[in-house]
Amino acid sequence: MIDQRILPAEFKYISYTSASAVADGIRDMVVRGAPAIGCAAAYGVALAALELCSKNSDEFTQGMEEAFEVLAQSRPTAVNLFWAIDRMRKLMRNSKGTSAEIANILLEEAHKVKKEDIEINRKMGSNGAELLNDGARVLTHCNAGALATAGHGTALGVFRSAVEVGKKVSVIADETRPFLQGARLTAWEMVQESIPVTLISDNMSGHLMSHGEIDAVVVGTDRVAGNGDVANKIGTYMVAVLAKRHNIPFYVACPLSTIDRSITSGKYIPIEERPIEEVTGYRDCQWAAEGIEVRNPAFDVTPAELVTGLITEKGVVLNPTTEKINKLF
Ligand code: MRU
Repeated sequence: MIDQRILPAEFKYISYTSASAVADGIRDMVVRGAPAIGCAAAYGVALAALELCSKNSDEFTQGMEEAFEVLAQSRPTAVNLFWAIDRMRKLMRNSKGTSAEIANILLEEAHKVKKEDIEINRKMGSNGAELLNDGARVLTHCNAGALATAGHGTALGVFRSAVEVGKKVSVIADETRPFLQGARLTAWEMVQESIPVTLISDNMSGHLMSHGEIDAVVVGTDRVAGNGDVANKIGTYMVAVLAKRHNIPFYVACPLSTIDRSITSGKYIPIEERPIEEVTGYRDCQWAAEGIEVRNPAFDVTPAELVTGLITEKGVVLNPTTEKINKLF
């Protein structure tokens, strides 16, 4: 995995050999972003299977169940984690053969999850690119880019695809406090590819919107409830409210693997609370007073009524509702 905690100052890979180490990597945000977490979990399952491949069937199954559990405990909000674990678990249960043969099947499946993710992002990219006018100035929040997926990205995939078809889009990346995915990761990805990008702090988007400097918003998501409510990085809800106030379209790039139809509303989406040190400072620098009370919810929920459209690999769902979402499946 690329260590996303230290980008863009350093570019380093970390190698993993066990499911529990992969779970730690997900929890510590070495890898982050819903689809990337799903891919990492699929490979975590494959690693567990390879470690257990000389065991008999009972020991293999028991070891694998432990691995599923360890991975499922890593982070609660991005549903792609549970989607990937379920997919791998079902395949394991339906596969026949020795432990080694099943381990190989699971490794092949992890490769498939990764390959499919890139294909899906490309489809979402071209569906979303059609929504953007030539010259559009588009705000994004957090990082829903190649780093957050197996490649191309969801929201940033829309920008990449728009540029590929010759549209001159420019990106406004907000910082995304407290973990700075916008400042560190989105800005870096766009600069790498010479896609015009302007960095702002999180409290500047309302000012820019009120001055007519933002034409659209495109963000990613960690989980969409059956009714179209969208969980995404903390601060997304604020941006959506502002976009509504200024009549700016608010789009969510959302692979079907991120839609959780087992829940009927965003109020059932578990919101991760992260360590307070992410708010009291950054890395080695603490700026808040010692002993201060802190809250650090990592995600918020934007109600479906504020969502102009969900950009999926099967097309764009305007003004999402339960009925429209069900038709996608
Ligand atoms: O806490 P993170 O960095 O994992 O949160 C990521 C986001 O909120 C992304 O917008 C979302 O996962 C979509 S990534 C294509």
